Amino acid sequence: MTNLWIKACSVDDVDEEDVIRFDHGGRTFAIYRSPEDEFFATDGLCTHEKIHLADGLVMDEIIECPKHNGRFNYRTGQAKGAPVCIDLKTYPVKVEAGNVFIAVE
Ligand code: FES
Repeated sequence: MTNLWIKACSVDDVDEEDVIRFDHGGRTFAIYRSPEDEFFATDGLCTHEKIHLADGLVMDEIIECPKHNGRFNYRTGQAKGAPVCIDLKTYPVKVEAGNVFIAVE
């Protein structure tokens, strides 16, 4: 399957240690900027119930879901304990000329 690079946002659209929502092709994603100024992308919706993670809280490498405070590592997608047990899907990210691109298959 070929990856398609899609422009998600400008680097200035996301504050450090924050997350924004990005919708594309009927799907929704979350774009993160880490405290180390790196960018990451995951599916937008929590795997527990369909709540958008862009409304959650970023702490170091963790996104905390706004609904039941489930936590994921947004770099790896790993679920970090109850009530979330299914990992989040992550997507490759690249930054070029001040824009953030994610690879969607
Ligand atoms: S909806 Fe995310 S933890 Fe329940």
